[in-house]
Amino acid sequence: QLTANIQNYHFDHILLNAAGVMCQTTTELDTVLASDYTGAVVTKSATPTLREGNPEPRYFEIPNHLGTINSMGLPNAGFDYYMSYVSEKQTTKPIFFSVAGLSKQDNLDMLHQLQDSDFKGLIELNLSCPNVPGKPQTAYDFETTEQILSEVFTFFTKPLGVKLPPYFDIAHFDMIADILNKFPLAFVNTINSIGNGLVIDEVTDTVVIKPKSGFGGIGGPLVKATALANVRALRQRLNSSIKIIGTGGVTTGRDVYEHILCGADLVEVGSQLAIEGIDVFERLEKELADILTEKGYTTLDDARGQLKTI
Ligand code: DHB
Repeated sequence: QLTANIQNYHFDHILLNAAGVMCQTTTELDTVLASDYTGAVVTKSATPTLREGNPEPRYFEIPNHLGTINSMGLPNAGFDYYMSYVSEKQTTKPIFFSVAGLSKQDNLDMLHQLQDSDFKGLIELNLSCPNVPGKPQTAYDFETTEQILSEVFTFFTKPLGVKLPPYFDIAHFDMIADILNKFPLAFVNTINSIGNGLVIDEVTDTVVIKPKSGFGGIGGPLVKATALANVRALRQRLNSSIKIIGTGGVTTGRDVYEHILCGADLVEVGSQLAIEGIDVFERLEKELADILTEKGYTTLDDARGQLKTI
């Protein structure tokens, strides 16, 4: 049974889209929901009002399957659009509603609206968008992160998680985990893209995306080792009540399996979903099932967190 739970939410499959990919329009959201191999869907991170995002080209697939770079700049249809979608949708699959305000006040306003609404799903507070010019990734500022969560939990009682950027230092794993453990979070989603990488076209010696002089968030195989380290480090430090969504570098069932070994409950697919399309979920689930059979595991719970050290 390749299933999982977060609080009272049951997921019949552990895979879903990573926020930003195949989730900006109702048609795209419907496509992810309709797949027989997704356990949930996450909406494009919403801002209070519609945004066009950064100038194009703003997404690029790096040759030789290394990964992707993007600087979308939070193009989204606005909070009300996603709120209408989730209010009207008849589905038994859990929905994650992602919010990414450009200020603390924007985040608090959207979370108040979600709290006061009939929305029955989970909420993901994105503290890690690297692509809005002039706006640093919130979760690299530990003090601000703690302050936002403190204010949020004065009124918010629905199941809330945070989307984190990758950390690269053991002291930072300790610091972010100490903060997150102070709050009744339902889950943590790690990682967002590795922010502000640079990719250069080998023929023309130019950058490959237009915004921010070519700097953008890196995804795909290039980030897998960082993603696994973040899933593992956080699983070792967070309260067991906080579930982990592993995101980053998943292109095969083996990659999903490694996220599980590191402690992931659910696993998201970003770059490879953009590249391969909706059928990626069927392929990944079947590849994962084959690996589990081969390893002699009958349930995911037996494999979860079972990474061995030497
Ligand atoms: C965008 C990118 C992110 O990594 C994110 O978390 C939110 C938004 C973007 O560029 O649209």
